[in-house]
Amino acid sequence: MNRATAIAPANIAFTKFWGWRDEALTLPFHDTVSMTLSACTTRTTVIESGGDEIVLLDASGRERPAGESFRRRVSAHLDFLRGLASPGGGGAAPVGRGPGLRVVTRNAMPMGTGIASSASGFAALTVAGCAVLGIGNVDERTLSILARRSGSGSASRSIPGGFVRWHAGARADGADSFSESLHAPDHWALADTIAVVATEPKQVASREGHRAAPTSPLFAARLAAMEGRNRRVIAALAARDLDALGPLLEIEALELHRIAETSAEPARYRNAATDLVLERVARLREEGVGVWFTLDAGPNVHLMSLADDVPRIERALHGIAAVVAVHVNLAAPGARLVEDHLA
Ligand code: PMV
Repeated sequence: MNRATAIAPANIAFTKFWGWRDEALTLPFHDTVSMTLSACTTRTTVIESGGDEIVLLDASGRERPAGESFRRRVSAHLDFLRGLASPGGGGAAPVGRGPGLRVVTRNAMPMGTGIASSASGFAALTVAGCAVLGIGNVDERTLSILARRSGSGSASRSIPGGFVRWHAGARADGADSFSESLHAPDHWALADTIAVVATEPKQVASREGHRAAPTSPLFAARLAAMEGRNRRVIAALAARDLDALGPLLEIEALELHRIAETSAEPARYRNAATDLVLERVARLREEGVGVWFTLDAGPNVHLMSLADDVPRIERALHGIAAVVAVHVNLAAPGARLVEDHLA
C-alpha cells in the first residue's frame, strides 16, 4: 500500500503574519519569527486510494465531522501537490487528475478549543502528501514553500524545528519566501502556556483578516516598523533575553488586534476573559515572574516564560474561572515522516 504519515507541530508567532502581499501565492509583506509547539501537533496519514476522502479524528481517535471549508482547503492543496507530481507538473492539477488520496488526520490538542491547527495540519499534509506522490527534491526549504502554498502561510513555519524565521522574500513568484530554523529546540527552555478561554470558532476567519489588514490606517506604520522589530526579536532570541523579547511580543499581539479592529472589515478577536488573563499576566510580572503574553487572531492567551516558571503560571491560571484548559509547550522538532500510521 502506498501511504505515508507525517507529524508536524503548530507554532506561535513572535512577530505576526497579518496581510497578504500576494493572496494567490500566500506571500507576506515582511518576515516573521516563531516557536514550534511541542504539545500542539497534528499527525496525518495519506494513502493512495480509489478516490479522495478526508477523515478527521479527535485527540482520542474518534471520528469528527470535517467542516466544508476545511474539506475544500485540503482538496485544493492535494490538487496543488498532484499538479507538481504529474509529468511536466508545476501547477495545480485539474480536479480528477492524479491518484485518489485518502487523508486521515488527528490533532494532539483537544479539538474545538480554538487553538489553531491549520499550520500543523497543512505542514503534516504537505510532508505526507509529497512522500506518497513521489515528489522528489523536497528539502526543508522546498517543503516550507509548498506548505505555504496551502493558503495557511504559517504552515511554512511548521516545517523546520525549534525557533523559526519565515523570510518574506522579494520575488514575485514566491521562490524565495521560505522558512528556516534559527535555533534548534534545545537552544532555550522557553515555554508557551496556552490559556484557553473560548471554544467557539472565531467569527471572522484569518483569511478575511489578511485581506482587510492593509485597509487599516495603522498598517503603513506597522510595515515601516517590522524590519527593526524583527531584528530586535532575533537578537533577543539569540541572546536568550526574555526581558528584551517579552515587551516586543506584547506589542506585536496588541498591534495585530488593533489593526484587525480598525480595518474596513473590523474584527474583534479578544473577549472579556482574554482581558482578565492579560491583567493576571501584568500582576504576575509585578510579583516578580518573568511572563509576557502574545495572542493570535483569537481570544486565547499564550503566556511566554521560562520553563521553570510554568508551575507558578499554571497555579495563577487555575484561579481564573474563565480559563477552561491550559496547554504547556516547549520548542519542538519540525515536521517529519513517521512510521506509526493512522490507517
Ligand atoms: O497562516 P494563516 O493564514 O493561518 O495566518 C496566521 C495568522 C496569525 O496566526 C494571526 C499570525 C501568525 O503569524 O501565525
